[in-house]
Amino acid sequence: MDRTNYELKNKGLHLVKADKENFWPLIDLRVAKDQEGFVASNAISLAQAYDTLADSKFVQAFGIWDGATPVGFAMIGHNSEEYEEMADVYRHSYCLWRFMIDQRYQKRGYGRDALKLLLDYIRSFPDGEEALWSTSWEPENEVAAKLYHDFGFIENGEKDGDEIVAVLKL
Ligand SMILES: CC(C)(COP(=O)(O)OP(=O)(O)OC[C@H]1O[C@@H](n2cnc3c(N)ncnc32)[C@H](O)[C@@H]1OP(=O)(O)O)[C@@H](O)C(=O)NCCC(=O)NCCS
Repeated sequence: MDRTNYELKNKGLHLVKADKENFWPLIDLRVAKDQEGFVASNAISLAQAYDTLADSKFVQAFGIWDGATPVGFAMIGHNSEEYEEMADVYRHSYCLWRFMIDQRYQKRGYGRDALKLLLDYIRSFPDGEEALWSTSWEPENEVAAKLYHDFGFIENGEKDGDEIVAVLKL
């Protein structure tokens, strides 16, 4: 995909930084039952974001909105965590830490368009310059694998626990 000239299919789609005024509806967003193993709940993600900030580390949580409707959630990290089995590339890349579109709004192109918006944000290098954007997915998550591959992410051979790790050049 030529991401430079990529036009959003969903013109009203935009990212809103999660804050105390707008986070409540994000907590109500849900993936389908059979997707629950692929991503933490947004409440847990926001708690982790709080903890990361309290540690003076970088994190940015976003609501993904279509006009006035909250449709998804994303969270970007950068050297935010350190744990056993962590992929090494997370030490020198921006990471798509969480990403979900509510089950009611899936298969409308929101996921793909939201990645484009997130790429624009990451290319503003909010926590300093990096050469790579990283992500990971559970091996059974074929929808995420296809979405990320189509967008230009390429496996780098690492694992993050069980998850497959891939990177995109910034
Ligand atoms: C992965 C996810 C964000 C995709 O969001 P989305 O808004 O449905 O994605 P899009 O509508 O942009 O679709 C992208 C492609 O995936 C396909 N797709 C989406 N959902 C699908 C499904 N359930 N089954 C088959 N294909 C699907 C679309 O048809 C589209 O393919 P195309 O480019 O060939 O037309 C969403 O499925 C989700 O939130 N899943 C649960 C959480 C998750 O897995 N997050 C990623 C963690 S790594």
